[in-house]
Amino acid sequence: MSFARCKALLDWYGLNARRLPWRDTDAPYAIWISEIMLQQTQVKTVLVRYADWFERFPSIEALAAASLDDVLKAWEGLGYYRRARFIHQAAGLIVEQHRGIFPSNFDAIMALPGIGLSTAGAIASFCFAANTPVLDANVKRVLRRWHGMPEAADNVLWPLAQQAIDSSAAIAIWNQSMMELGATLCTAKSANCGDCPVNVYCDSAFRVEIAKESRKKTAVRDVHWQVHLHRDRCKGIWLSQRPVSGIWAGLWTPPITELAQAPACQPDHIHLLTHRRLHLYVQHQTKQPSGAGIWVSSLEKHALPTGIHRLLALVSHK
Ligand code: ADE
Repeated sequence: MSFARCKALLDWYGLNARRLPWRDTDAPYAIWISEIMLQQTQVKTVLVRYADWFERFPSIEALAAASLDDVLKAWEGLGYYRRARFIHQAAGLIVEQHRGIFPSNFDAIMALPGIGLSTAGAIASFCFAANTPVLDANVKRVLRRWHGMPEAADNVLWPLAQQAIDSSAAIAIWNQSMMELGATLCTAKSANCGDCPVNVYCDSAFRVEIAKESRKKTAVRDVHWQVHLHRDRCKGIWLSQRPVSGIWAGLWTPPITELAQAPACQPDHIHLLTHRRLHLYVQHQTKQPSGAGIWVSSLEKHALPTGIHRLLALVSHK
């Protein structure tokens, strides 16, 4: 990649980058948590939750010593809870295997649960000045457009990402710049080529066909769930813990049974997940609950899925 292209992008970044708290640090714990949060949660949501995490778990040791329930509670509302379980597991491994110090070696970073090549690339370059590219969805889009290869798969993109970084003098900033370009200018919805600092080097400048680029939509299946709501004026609400795998794994909800087909009535709430549209039908129960569960009078301590919080808010006045 040419020096001029590199400089144009880095200069643009210097003038236009958003100020984000994880860009003001190279502390591995802070960067690691930000990268995991940002994997599947929008920057604006992470921004309001980021500082709270470190109030709650000020160090990797504190995180490893916390219960999984506490970690899931701290993750509440960020979605894709598997990430919280991985973070907790990884914290335990860092304490056991690395004396509580986040590893600096790329393979050791990759060995931690929840960390793939791109996240490891981000952590290694931001914290340890390693020569490792990031290849998240934004960077992939930028590279596909630069090289005029709208269909390019990961095995083609990784070498291109590495080539680009090899000729960049400022690796960490380069990775941030690529992500920033894809997140703010060269987006999925619009290419904004007129404002792009590197449009003269881009094979797709002013020729991006957004409609053609958009991938097949994920198939979303409708699921109908009956939510058995036991409420007691003194004891609160009856919750049971979801199984360790599947939808809302490990989170707390009122007991749920899946209905074989859509009932005749309207659902009380519909909650959308990546692959499922959950139609939730509240069944107010008057009998004592049976099976595993607990009465909870305040929802402060247990991690409930956002869909259940919404449902409870909707039916609370009924
Ligand atoms: N998404 C993933 N990593 C990011 C970062 N460091 N800054 C902004 N968005 C990101």
